[in-house]
Amino acid sequence: MSAAKLRLGVLVSGRGTNLQAILDGCSDGRIPAEVAVVVSNRPGVPALDRARRHGVPALTVSHASYGKWPLCRAAYERDLVRALTEYGVGLVVCAGYDRLAGETLIEAFRGRMINIHPSLLPSFPGLHAQADALAYGAKVTGATVFFVDESLDGGPIIVQEAVPVEEGDTVESLAARILVVEHRLLPRAITLIAQGRTVLEGRRVRILDRSGGASQCVGQ
Ligand code: GRF
Repeated sequence: MSAAKLRLGVLVSGRGTNLQAILDGCSDGRIPAEVAVVVSNRPGVPALDRARRHGVPALTVSHASYGKWPLCRAAYERDLVRALTEYGVGLVVCAGYDRLAGETLIEAFRGRMINIHPSLLPSFPGLHAQADALAYGAKVTGATVFFVDESLDGGPIIVQEAVPVEEGDTVESLAARILVVEHRLLPRAITLIAQGRTVLEGRRVRILDRSGGASQCVGQ
C-alpha cells in the first residue's frame, strides 16, 4: 500500500493562478500531494471556481463578516483553523492570500504553513512588492516561498528564484514575468515538503537531496 498523500489546504483571495498551478501539478502527479480544500476569505472570487472545476471542496470564510480587522482576526482564524482541521490538512499553502496570518493560525500550523511572495525576500516585503522593486530601481527581483511566522514576509526561506528587471518594465509587465516563476516555484516547494526534504534549523531551511529525504520530518 502506498503512503497517504500530504493533504493541502490552499488559502486564496482572488484570481488563483498559483492555485491553478498547484491543482494541475497534483492532478498530473508532478506534486506528490492532494488539495483537500480551498478556502477564500473573499466570496465569489475566480479561485473558488478553479477549485470546483477540479472537484475540490471550495469554502468561503469571509474575514469581513467577523467585524473590524485586525480586531476580529482571532475569531476569524478560529473558524479557518476548524475548517482546515476538518479536512485533515497537513500543509497550509497561502497562494495569493491577502491577510497577514495571526497567532491563532500560526500556532495551529507552525512549520506547516507556507506563502509565496513576488520578490527576492528580504527585499520588498508587503503588498506592493513589484511596484516597490521598480520604484527602488532594483535590477533583479524575483519570487520567494517561505514558512509563515509572526513577521511580515520574514519567515524561513524554502526556495527563491531571481527575475531580472528590464528597461521599460511596468508594474504589470514585471508582475507577469514574476508570476511565470511563481507557478513553478510554489509547486517545487510543496513537492520538497511532501517528500520530507525540508528541515528547519533556526531560520534556515536545509534541503535534503533525494537519498536523504525519506527519514526526515517536515519542518521540524
Ligand atoms: C501572486 O503574485 C502572489 O505572489 C501574490 O499575489 C499574487 C496572487 O496571484 N501574493 P494569484 O491569485 O495566484 O493569481
